[in-house]
Amino acid sequence: MPILSPRIRNIVTGDDDGWGVQTRAQAMAREGREIILLTMGDHDFPTAKPIREACSAALATGRTGYGSIHGIAPLRKNIAKRGSAVHGFEVDPELVVVSMGGQAALFAATFAALDPGDEAIVIEPFYATYEQTIRAAGGVPVTVTTNADRGFQPDAEILRAAITPRTRMILCNSPNNPSGVIYTRETLEGIAALCIEHDLWLISDEVYHSQVYDGAHLSPASLPEMRERTFIVDSMSKSHAMTGWRSGWLICPNADAATCVMDLFLTSAYGVAPFIQLAMRAALAGGKGPEHEIAERYRYRRDRAVEALTASARLKVLPPEAAMYVLIDLRHFAPDAERFAYALLEETGVAVMPGGSFGASTEGHIRISLTAPEEKLIEACTLIAGFADTWGET
Ligand SMILES: Cc1ncc(COP(=O)(O)O)c(C=O)c1O
Repeated sequence: MPILSPRIRNIVTGDDDGWGVQTRAQAMAREGREIILLTMGDHDFPTAKPIREACSAALATGRTGYGSIHGIAPLRKNIAKRGSAVHGFEVDPELVVVSMGGQAALFAATFAALDPGDEAIVIEPFYATYEQTIRAAGGVPVTVTTNADRGFQPDAEILRAAITPRTRMILCNSPNNPSGVIYTRETLEGIAALCIEHDLWLISDEVYHSQVYDGAHLSPASLPEMRERTFIVDSMSKSHAMTGWRSGWLICPNADAATCVMDLFLTSAYGVAPFIQLAMRAALAGGKGPEHEIAERYRYRRDRAVEALTASARLKVLPPEAAMYVLIDLRHFAPDAERFAYALLEETGVAVMPGGSFGASTEGHIRISLTAPEEKLIEACTLIAGFADTWGET
């Protein structure tokens, strides 16, 4: 019997499974229990009608053949125009490669940056697939902690200490999931300086740049000497409520990198479906309106959720500057946040993510997604606050 390659076996390890609470919540829902699911970063509302209609129109006119692996030119032009306004430099449409979601863009960039056995620095707290993506590329994830009490801004000296002769890249996510923190200019300059000093690639995951409530987004690619060593990951999943469409892209540092990424897609997805690309183009052709509307909806939810949670003096809420999550610090009264999350689910039917799912730096925290209709979200936050107040009494 042939054996499977260890390369594919060791992508998801036992330690990575942060979805236990969600799995339990879904089982409870199947048994008829009323559950409010605040675990995943998936919207509770559908993609806007004009985008869906653009897809239907493309299907109706028979746009069902192979899609362009690079991405159709008018779409890449729209992406480059939007990207130039967002990332702080003139984006060349030739360097944009359309991908199946931000995840495939992340996968391609990681493949491009790493040789087997190379180390990749991942900054905590991090999006749950980062370590797995690095392992899929044959790399070794090296996690670097940040401190809740310093607002989860990475410290350049701690990053420096993690660099070895095998380090080839740093993976950076600002605005950050799960913390909602935007890295400061000083933080990003510190990361950029290390990339330049040690000749590292930077993968900059900027999928939350459209959902900024306080402060402003700064792309590290706009810093001096960084453009040529940065891959930017972007996606319409969050900005345009298009999670299921798998609609993202990579902005490559140069033409050679773009060609190699296309070769990778040639041998894997073979491009994004043309009817999806046409819907993406229609969404971006509409300008900033649709994404602004979604960001405003999350801003409203953020404000209401933070207000409801802070009804409990025990909950230390970190109001997010961006994105669609709220991180809550329980360390001073419920340091075992996983136990808290399971007990919260059993007692109230509210499902949240234990912070340990995003690395050791968020142990003792829980994360809620703002992805429930306003009334349900506030009900859930009120239940969390009430549960926190009684924690330890029984
Ligand atoms: C930080 C971050 N990067 C990338 C992704 C992947 O997004 P996509 O749906 O575009 O693959 C997510 C999804 O939650 C995310 O939170």
